[in-house]
Amino acid sequence: MDFNYSEEQLLVQKTAREFAAEQLAPGVAERDEKMEFPAEQIKMLGEMGFMGMMVPEEWGGSGFDTVSYSLALEEIAKMDASAAVPVSVNNSLVCALLYKYGTDDQKEKYLRKLATGEWLGAFSLSEPQAGSDASNLLTHAEKSGDQYIINGTKNWVSNGITSNIAFVFAVTEKGAGHHGITVLAVTKGSDGFTTGKKENKLGIRGSDTCELYFDDCTVPVKNRIAKEGDGFKIAMSVLDGGRIGIASQALGIAQAALESAITYANERKQFGKQISSFGAVKEKIAKMATEITSARLLTHYAANLKDEEKPFSKESAMAKYYASEVAMSAATECVQIFGGYGYMKDYGVERLMRDAKITQIYEGTSEIQKLVIARSMLEKT
Ligand code: CAA
Repeated sequence: MDFNYSEEQLLVQKTAREFAAEQLAPGVAERDEKMEFPAEQIKMLGEMGFMGMMVPEEWGGSGFDTVSYSLALEEIAKMDASAAVPVSVNNSLVCALLYKYGTDDQKEKYLRKLATGEWLGAFSLSEPQAGSDASNLLTHAEKSGDQYIINGTKNWVSNGITSNIAFVFAVTEKGAGHHGITVLAVTKGSDGFTTGKKENKLGIRGSDTCELYFDDCTVPVKNRIAKEGDGFKIAMSVLDGGRIGIASQALGIAQAALESAITYANERKQFGKQISSFGAVKEKIAKMATEITSARLLTHYAANLKDEEKPFSKESAMAKYYASEVAMSAATECVQIFGGYGYMKDYGVERLMRDAKITQIYEGTSEIQKLVIARSMLEKT
């Protein structure tokens, strides 16, 4: 067992860390306040090879492993969890889906642009009545000649406004349950495809989230990914990888909370002493540091299994569940250590608390992760 990172992994981490400090940290509070998408920074991340990290170079990506991806995403999220959203969605959902299930023609047409960051993609599964119950879709795609006609509404779509292409899960065979779901690539500007308003969210406010509307939207049959009816399994298998991304984002938020708490605790004096000298504060720091290290090991273990092409569904669910709980707890404790100042926007730690919350919800709630974990454990008995 080797717990050391390779030189390449460390270089990726360092590059992401420097970029985040120089390009993301300066405007993060303002973007959060104004709900402003970090468009310039995402463009730069694309140019640096961070938007198609696990896509082989022959398709325009950087050919890095999943551990490198996790290290980079943690660094980005540590400075700006909102910027980590488009990076995570584009890498571990969109590019992963297209690379694994797309034809060479589809990769030529779309993957190259997505992996280089020229294009941004969205992954559109959820609907108003289909959140955790992801196969309960109403969006419908009917085949007519060499086209599909899509009707329906999708919601909570990250990158929904900024993306150039959305991978949309729709029912092509009514009554067939999850076996009747198909995934279609819908490009921006397609007839009958519109996006809703930018959602006003509690956290990750710099990322864009919206509804997608399909009103007799037509897409060519050649935009179907894999076979009719394969959609749900594709969604589930892609989300396994996506959950490593969200775990990494959660790690970044948690690490930022820990570092802020340590700096503040060493500076702040009460009762004539630095508050870091008090047992109550030491206990919090020790708990945060231990939990973050455990969550990181679990996340990199899941990433390593994926890199070794071994089953990793249970481990990615564990990583996402645990890292997101740790992020919420660490951010809350950080605010507690800051006390009244932590509650004020000026110190930036209340943002960590708001940003952490979504990691327990999107790409499968903590409850769904526990369901996935428990099912896989119980199957074996
Ligand atoms: N890989 C491949 N196939 C899988 C799989 C996986 N990890 N997990 C399940 N499947 C297959 C099963 O084998 C089964 O196939 P068969 O019937 O042929 O055997 C099929 O999928 C259905 O599986 P289940 O019976 O387990 O399905 P279920 O209806 O009970 O649902 C669930 C399971 C785990 C609850 C699932 O619905 C789920 O993950 N829900 C959460 C959805 C989610 O994460 N949504 C987030 C969307 S993206 C987002 O957040 C926004 C964004 O923009 C990023």
